[in-house]
Amino acid sequence: MPWAGPTLMSDSLTLPAGRRLVPVSATLAANEVLATRRRAGQPVLPLAFGESGLPVHRRLRAELASASGLGAYGPVAGLPALREAAAGYWTRRGTPTEPSRVVAGPGSKALLFGLLLALGADVAMPRPSWVSYAAQARLTGLAPNFVPTVPGEAGICDPAALDEAVGAARAAGRRIGAVLMTLPDNPTGRVASPEAVRELCAAAQRHDLIIVSDEIYRDLIHDSATPFLSPASVAPERTVVTTALSKSMSVGGWRLGVARMPDGPAGQMLRDRLSGVASEIWSAAPVPVQQAAAVAFTEPPELAEYVSHARRVHAAVARATARVFAAAGVRVAMPQAAFYLYPDFAPWRAHLADKYEITTGAGLAALLLERYGAGTLPGSAFGDDPAALRLRVATGLLYGDSEGQRETALAAPDPVRLPWIDAAMSRLAEILADLGS
Ligand SMILES: Cc1ncc(COP(=O)(O)O)c(C=O)c1O
Repeated sequence: MPWAGPTLMSDSLTLPAGRRLVPVSATLAANEVLATRRRAGQPVLPLAFGESGLPVHRRLRAELASASGLGAYGPVAGLPALREAAAGYWTRRGTPTEPSRVVAGPGSKALLFGLLLALGADVAMPRPSWVSYAAQARLTGLAPNFVPTVPGEAGICDPAALDEAVGAARAAGRRIGAVLMTLPDNPTGRVASPEAVRELCAAAQRHDLIIVSDEIYRDLIHDSATPFLSPASVAPERTVVTTALSKSMSVGGWRLGVARMPDGPAGQMLRDRLSGVASEIWSAAPVPVQQAAAVAFTEPPELAEYVSHARRVHAAVARATARVFAAAGVRVAMPQAAFYLYPDFAPWRAHLADKYEITTGAGLAALLLERYGAGTLPGSAFGDDPAALRLRVATGLLYGDSEGQRETALAAPDPVRLPWIDAAMSRLAEILADLGS
């Protein structure tokens, strides 16, 4: 018999005053629009989704397959082998780490959310910064405080502006308890300078803030000469570092991330709270994936070689894309890491307003999607000024439509010369020429 009782009234889903949930993440939503267009046979230029579209290495696939018999939940903080391997990964990067300080989770996104719950205080984050920080803060009932970056820097708050934000929050009866940074940065593909990191650490010390340093793109810095300083080397007693294999090993769908918790008693307290959150939400990260990730974090030569080839592809395509924007007269800082760039169409403001009545980044992204099938994200999705004509452009899905093309891109000494990547660059140049005319 079908249910014949009263149906659920939409009022039943009314949230309490002041409680706001979030829509589907902007980046996932844009990807769905592109997938629909593709199914309808319409041309697309997929520049919205922040994914490394390279094939998974054979060794990792084999490790995962051989671990598939591990059916038990496993320890909340992660398998001992994974925690030891992740500790070795950080130790080799100049931040000595005991396995006991490592907490694993199903993606660094989940760990960041768990950390926000464990912190229980408002957070400061750079404007612009990765879409999910602010959304997650709202989900946990905390206030996201966007703080501008120092001109020329990215992924890190301006210390003077952070001082102001902490003061303003206090005056409003709120407490900012942590500051987030993204090293290297998404959406800009830039790396904050060591001086900026030191100054931000000093500001965090002044206000007794926890620093959360999201270093998921650390192994994808294009040029090894680019200086990199983790706040974990400067303020180890207050810094949490998160990372994952999603980007460097192209296994975002495997859902595995790790956090390196701070030294000392505060770090221990935070670790215990994070483990409590983890135990009630995900129990443990997927155990076969942890087993494979343990191998990856020990960085055997064939996987280290994979990362260096992946880095070469990301660098070549992201930079070539930036050059296409620059040649069209759009302002863009040359990306230094990962597969992102953040072009600013400010020089086209009058033209876009006159010809298309476009005055916002969201309007510009919608025009590119509807008129040309080019998916990008507006800077406003990253907390940037809605009136700014800035877009986050992600190039990690331009490497090919088939596994064979993507394998070829990974092995190519000069991937931009491959016909399908060259065609994507030409298409982008055509779109910009048409839009700007
Ligand atoms: C800056 C940043 N942090 C964290 C993540 C989350 O990655 P994952 O949950 O796959 O570890 C992403 C993914 O897009 C990201 O761009």
